Amino acid sequence: MVSPHCGVREPRRPRPGSHGQIEGYAVGFEGTALPKSVTEETVVSVRHYTDRLFAFRLTRPATFRFRSGEFIMLGLMVEGKPLLRAYSIASPSWDEGLDFYSIKVSDGPLTSRLQSIGVDDGVLLGKKPTGTLVLDALKPGKTLYFLSTGTGIAPFASLVREPEVYERFDRVILTHTCRHVADLAYGQDLTAAVMDDPLVGEEAREKLTYYPSITREPYAREGRITHLIDSGQMFEELGTTPFDPAHDRVMICGSMDMLKDCCERAEAAGLEEGSNARPGDYVYEKAFVS
Ligand code: A2P
Repeated sequence: MVSPHCGVREPRRPRPGSHGQIEGYAVGFEGTALPKSVTEETVVSVRHYTDRLFAFRLTRPATFRFRSGEFIMLGLMVEGKPLLRAYSIASPSWDEGLDFYSIKVSDGPLTSRLQSIGVDDGVLLGKKPTGTLVLDALKPGKTLYFLSTGTGIAPFASLVREPEVYERFDRVILTHTCRHVADLAYGQDLTAAVMDDPLVGEEAREKLTYYPSITREPYAREGRITHLIDSGQMFEELGTTPFDPAHDRVMICGSMDMLKDCCERAEAAGLEEGSNARPGDYVYEKAFVS
């Protein structure tokens, strides 16, 4: 399992009368009308990492298909209306449940409420996953870099468990930069679990490197990823060479500023942006939830 889950229980049985159809709406949340664009899923587990970060797992509808790395709308009914935000799916496409990793913002309209969810609660899940952090958007290459800050690690938590990643690339580097050491726990647990995973563990042990750094307190490796790229420290420590379109592919997920700065570095190295329609050398996506 990628994200460690506490208090895992079997999903509850559907309540009598839930998910019924009335005039284009389904009925869920104890009789509240749900828009047709969402389903109501059940919380299977929740784990709080810090006072600002938590992860949770939802049931997955049998009809829900997505590509590892994509995001989906997710939320709660608030005062009779759906309040939805985009969330990267942190579990791989083959997993029977759906994992998410979220920040908690005390005055955030959704996360202030979502942080209180518990096992067996209902959460709204959109039906149309989408996104650019997918393997289809990249040309073949040798080394794949996942550059992430904060909750931007979520789509890569999905991709590092995707067997196709290891079929397509000889090396996979997961960088994660956070403010505080405690913020690394999710990524540390993730990579430990991936190395032991029955499906991808063997290849991950051979090809995957976890590369964390911290910016606001002492740690074994300090500094923003942009600094570690510019100084050459990252390439030196990994035994690789500066980004090269001939063999390197890069996926980036973090805040708007982080995206801008990392994309500039990819472009400066001659990497071309890719998309679903036109695969390239690098792709990026905002770490949505704030
Ligand atoms: P810093 O502590 O120097 O701001 P946040 O929680 O604000 O999204 O930040 C998560 C991590 O991303 C922090 O370690 C932060 O470093 C780093 N970061 C913030 N902005 C950038 C940027 N423009 N480029 C690279 N890293 C960044």
